[in-house]
Amino acid sequence: MSFQAPKGTFDWLPPRSEQILAVREALVAPVRRAGYGYVETPVFEDTQLFARGVGESTDIVSKEMYTFPDKAGRSLTLRPEGTASVVRAVLQHGLHNGQLPVKLWYSGSQFRYERAQKGRYRHFWQVGAEALGAEDPALDAELVVLGAEGFAELGLTGVRLLLNSLGDKVCRPAYRAALQEFLRGLDLDDDTRARIDINPLRVLDDKRPEVRAQLAGAPLVVDHLCAACKAYHEEVRSLLTAAGVAYEDDPRLVRGLDYYTRTTFEFVHDGLGSQSAVGGGGRYDGLSEMLGGPPLPSVGWALGVDRTFLAMEAEGLLSGDEQGRAPGLVQVYGVALGDDARRRMFLLVDELRRAGVSADMAFGGKGLKGAMKGADRSGARFALILGERDLAAQAVQVKDLTTAEQTEVPLAQVVDVLKGKVQ
Ligand code: HAM
Repeated sequence: MSFQAPKGTFDWLPPRSEQILAVREALVAPVRRAGYGYVETPVFEDTQLFARGVGESTDIVSKEMYTFPDKAGRSLTLRPEGTASVVRAVLQHGLHNGQLPVKLWYSGSQFRYERAQKGRYRHFWQVGAEALGAEDPALDAELVVLGAEGFAELGLTGVRLLLNSLGDKVCRPAYRAALQEFLRGLDLDDDTRARIDINPLRVLDDKRPEVRAQLAGAPLVVDHLCAACKAYHEEVRSLLTAAGVAYEDDPRLVRGLDYYTRTTFEFVHDGLGSQSAVGGGGRYDGLSEMLGGPPLPSVGWALGVDRTFLAMEAEGLLSGDEQGRAPGLVQVYGVALGDDARRRMFLLVDELRRAGVSADMAFGGKGLKGAMKGADRSGARFALILGERDLAAQAVQVKDLTTAEQTEVPLAQVVDVLKGKVQ
């Protein structure tokens, strides 16, 4: 019997796994340059944190959580997102009593029991950034700009930004009532009717054509914003325009989590089939209070690393080097013939590594042909070939694997020579 990774999950293997590391790094580089500090929270939390934070009526909480009792009978849940955990950590450690906003970024696995398909996984990776404790349109704009810069850093050109405002506790109730009244007049199934009472905004997000057709005349939240929310939203929009970040107003943008207030946004890419969102976020001014904390107006986003990778693939940004080889893990690959040469090579690759040159060598007693094949497959730029005769002459053959050009270099100088060549 052999095992398979669970449905909706997959493995990242070399050389693609190197590329996914680079994608994660590039997506968070802009927030790291903007004073966001790294936070790591547990992969599982008290189930109630997500039930209260993300919202009981969301698909995430009602259908998609990996929830289990631990051996002491506590109900724990594998995190489906990072925001609730970050707010929990800030409150638990009193970070909000210091300098505000508290700016944090994270990177990690998330778990949602969704219908698995391309771009929609049960185990996926997000990088995220949250700024807690300030109500300032410049902070919303900063995060949007930094998110857009992350995608730009990777060379992506097909990412579009959708922007909306969901109002606040002043104007949302009146909008909600207007929306409920409109929805109650439609021809909908019982499940959807039930949703009108619990979370009418979610009905706006229904993807079924027969429902969509009826939603054409639905009241829009932008038409119901109070003066303060309207002014706030205008300021966010004008800062984005001033920063040269293109956005599209999307009055129908509804996010899948309940904690949002005011600014909401999504980064979408059209090369991913039905899953177009490569990232999303917004302001969540009430979340801290929902979790038992003080008022802590905050804003943040999470970017989907797996979907960003798919978007890069769709834009042809992930091909190998000019020869079509996948990027190698090492710069240098050692091929030694004979026991003495092998012993010397063992020391030489270690010396190279300590000098900052990445190096590997042929293991398993292969002959010259097999070892040279290993050198080619490794993706290394240079092969070091050491035979008994070379060893006697205290020299090594350095072969440039891209040009097949070979030169003899004294063993005593080879580390310096290679250092010069690979930098
Ligand atoms: P979200 O929109 O649920 O927001 O997820 C953010 C991103 O994670 C999505 O745009 C998508 O790229 C990726 N993602 C979500 N579900 C999946 C999946 N099943 N498979 C692959 N990728 C997926 C949040 O999680 C919020 N915590 C964002 C936020 C932070 N809001 C404020 N601060």
